[in-house]
Amino acid sequence: SLTTKFLGRTYASPIMNAAGIRCTTTVELDQLRQSSAGTFVTKTATLNPRSGNAGKRLAALPNGSINSMGLPNEGIDYYLDYLTNLPDHGHDAFLSVAGFSEGDQLAVLSKIAASDFAGIVELNLSCPNIVGHPQLAYDFEATDALLAKVFAQFGQLELGVKLPPFFDPVHFDQIAAVLNKYPIKYINSINSLGNGFFINPDTDAPMIEPKSGFGGIGGGYAKPTALANVRAMRERLRDDIAIIGTGGVQNGRDAYDLILCGASMVQVATLLGEEGIAAFDHLNAQLQTVLTAKGYPNAEAAVGQLVTN
Ligand code: DHB
Repeated sequence: SLTTKFLGRTYASPIMNAAGIRCTTTVELDQLRQSSAGTFVTKTATLNPRSGNAGKRLAALPNGSINSMGLPNEGIDYYLDYLTNLPDHGHDAFLSVAGFSEGDQLAVLSKIAASDFAGIVELNLSCPNIVGHPQLAYDFEATDALLAKVFAQFGQLELGVKLPPFFDPVHFDQIAAVLNKYPIKYINSINSLGNGFFINPDTDAPMIEPKSGFGGIGGGYAKPTALANVRAMRERLRDDIAIIGTGGVQNGRDAYDLILCGASMVQVATLLGEEGIAAFDHLNAQLQTVLTAKGYPNAEAAVGQLVTN
């Protein structure tokens, strides 16, 4: 089987969408729920609805994608309404949220705490596409200060954080040291590779329009960095902190590699955007083939089973 466990929940597959992809409207969320994904996460919700950045803001690249969406979303109330009206009050779902200031973040969380939402909260510390707002998780002191307030006020929430990629062992040490201070339930690594750039060979102009063409890179380009971040964080985080692996999953082997590095759930963005929800059928079948060939009875049994030399 493909069964995995995450925060006391059992999922029929570890594979699910990544925040932002086909999860903005209730129609899309219903499609995810009816798909063969193990579960789903919402588009990152902000306090108020946003239309996002103007112009062409997502493009396919030869081995992935580039985007500068600007957090288009329907606002926290919309997602809370959807989730709390599910039969399980969203118990098995993930609600992704972000804010543009500490006050914003806390206001969004206080709406969640005041609701019947029974699921998992993912605090997005890593949106790369908002002008004037750096990715919070690259500022270790600000991350520490925010998490101190979050857990002082909302310790009852089951909460994890979405992290940007890190590229230096000292930075892995520093973010892990901050996260290990708090009762976070999980991390999700990685968000897109921030502020990449790609030129359209037909026009000699950038592939996307917002932010002069700079945007988050996903897909195949992200895979080695995603594996490195999952592996490096697994080596550093408390054992009780679970990991979602995200980045560059194009086939079942890619999902399996993230699982070997320590991921108990695996998220898919670029491929899901390109193929639609049929991507889950292909990935599930391919992951099952790998697990069977390697002798694992389920996905959970393979988590962290990287062979070290
Ligand atoms: C957005 C884009 C991303 O690549 C991301 O990781 C988070 C948010 C966005 O611009 O909406």
